[in-house]
Amino acid sequence: MHRVVAVANAKGGVGKTSLTAGLAGLVAHTGYRVLTVDADPQGNLCRDLGYPAGDGQSLALAIQNGFELAPLRQVRPNLDCVPGGAALFDIPATYISRMARGQTMTGLRDALLRIEPAPPHSGDYDLVLVDTPPGEPVIQELIFRAADYVIIPTRSDDASLDGLVMVAHRFATARANNERLTLLGVLLFGVRSGSTRLRERVRLALEDALEGVAPVFDTTIRYLESAAVDMRRHGLLPYELEQRHARERSERLARLRSRQPAAGRDDLLSRDAAGLAGDYVALAKEVLAAIATAEADHDATPANAEPARRPSRGPLPG
Ligand SMILES: Nc1ncnc2c1ncn2[C@@H]1O[C@H](COP(=O)(O)OP(=O)(O)OP(=O)(O)O)[C@@H](O)[C@H]1O
Ligand SMILES: [Mg+2]
Repeated sequence: MHRVVAVANAKGGVGKTSLTAGLAGLVAHTGYRVLTVDADPQGNLCRDLGYPAGDGQSLALAIQNGFELAPLRQVRPNLDCVPGGAALFDIPATYISRMARGQTMTGLRDALLRIEPAPPHSGDYDLVLVDTPPGEPVIQELIFRAADYVIIPTRSDDASLDGLVMVAHRFATARANNERLTLLGVLLFGVRSGSTRLRERVRLALEDALEGVAPVFDTTIRYLESAAVDMRRHGLLPYELEQRHARERSERLARLRSRQPAAGRDDLLSRDAAGLAGDYVALAKEVLAAIATAEADHDATPANAEPARRPSRGPLPG
């Protein structure tokens, strides 16, 4: 069985898509087999991976009827992506009319259980990351039913914290239908500096909403707008932007050494993305460790004699 992780917040612009793409790309780069699913009708995830947005038809049919998913294969080595798009706008109306007839909509879980990485790989993906839309509660609910884990990214402003509280309530409600569902953690995204007090504030808001202990990741993703613009414009992930900076630095140095004239200005706004790329490495380690802990806890309960498969690849770099 794949591990299905939903990335969700009821508020827009808090880093859901950037986080899904950055985390998925990095984990795949390390050798894990990863699938990303773009459950947002805006279809931004493909663009962040450097591909044109799709129509979302394959995913909409999988959610509605359990049809086979048709991912774009190998958008990076070890990484496949099911595109989102406008067809997902139809889901809420279909869901409501099915509910009125006493029917449910569990197709996505079935479709995810059946999908396999492209040959020569087979079997399960190590990780499935699902990007969700901010303002479609029905889609969010259906994703929560199909998922094993949830990550909630949030920014630090009050509106984002309201979104966090709202999605925490939806998470608690979804657990009534899906007792596997586990909150891996809340991630502070786009942080400028000094996150200790902020983390405490988020922890308290979350504990209040969930009426219990609520995990907040130690890692935060720093605010770096120039890098964010470069990544989206060029379809680059954080570690790829860092690699491109390093390449351009060494080319500049080589030109200086050989006294060649300077080339025209490169088209990147940012100068250095190493810190941001490092945040994603730290986060990937924390996320994989949190999954391993959750699976160990799951195995330890008497009802689960069959041990779950742990993340099986080597450690992340950094
Ligand atoms: N580290 C960063 N620092 C500052 N801005 C960033 C960073 N990473 C991404 N951004 C920018 O923040 C904005 C919101 O990010 P993103 O699209 O990932 O959020 P989202 O939650 O998926 O939004 P939506 O709810 O619209 O789907 C984008 O313009 C993105 O380029
Ligand atoms: Mg998004």
